[in-house]
Amino acid sequence: MSSLAAEFERALDPAAIFTGAGMAADPWQAGVLRSSHPRQLLLCSRQSGKSTTVASLAVHSALYDPGLVLLFAPAQRQSTELFKKVSAFYRALPDVPTPVAVTETKMELPNGSRIIALPGSEATTRGYSAPRLILVDEASRTEEALYGALRPMLATTSTQLDQGRMLCLSTPWGKRGWFYEQWAHGGDRWQRTKITAHDCPRISAEWLAEERKLVGDFIFRQEYLCEFVDTEEQLFPTELIERAVRPAGGPLWQ
Ligand SMILES: Nc1ncnc2c1ncn2[C@@H]1O[C@H](COP(=O)(O)OP(=O)(O)O)[C@@H](O)[C@H]1O
Ligand SMILES: [Mg+2]
Repeated sequence: MSSLAAEFERALDPAAIFTGAGMAADPWQAGVLRSSHPRQLLLCSRQSGKSTTVASLAVHSALYDPGLVLLFAPAQRQSTELFKKVSAFYRALPDVPTPVAVTETKMELPNGSRIIALPGSEATTRGYSAPRLILVDEASRTEEALYGALRPMLATTSTQLDQGRMLCLSTPWGKRGWFYEQWAHGGDRWQRTKITAHDCPRISAEWLAEERKLVGDFIFRQEYLCEFVDTEEQLFPTELIERAVRPAGGPLWQ
């Protein structure tokens, strides 16, 4: 393919960023990347390729939808990891402009796009406005206030058609927190994708069976089967607590 044709294909199809890096997107990854839905929740097994997916989306967005791309994770170390995947994808593309500036957490392109990795705290969102794309990795473990701070940022991107996008990706972490709430009760404002380890072509059944013995049932169901299982530390199961605090469920003890 000529470089112009490759460039054209890439502009039209975000999944082509994978090709540039010598990989092929799994069908579910391509589905996430090609979706035009402004709000996506990805509930995916450990090692399924969720961070890789959104890293390629960050590159596509910065190239073809100029503006601000913000990467969040529970801690700076983790969003910096995601940023590494972003810059690896970018560097693998043969015919893209040289970044104006690159650090370990930030890249700026000649078209004005900036990709910035931040820790997942409400305070760090303050200096930024109207992002084109927000990515929240390991979202179930980010603080409650982060989601509250991010939603209005997207709303300021004006019209329905031109609003910024948000993708939140995670393994589950108990029936609590904003990611769980949005997954379970967030209604149809989200497009949801659930990928267990069994759905991932790179994770073999033999390896999984071995891992199950190693990590135990609880962790296995959470990290590989994507179940919102109750935390081990929790004294009562979440359903019981919910029944006690939610009026509709009636009192816990008569
Ligand atoms: N479509 C793909 N083809 C080949 N390797 C992939 C693909 N998607 C992800 N990977 C690889 O799988 C591993 C796990 O991916 P990662 O995105 O870190 O998973 P997760 O964030 O879900 O734990 C990485 O080594 C990554 O390069
Ligand atoms: Mg990851």
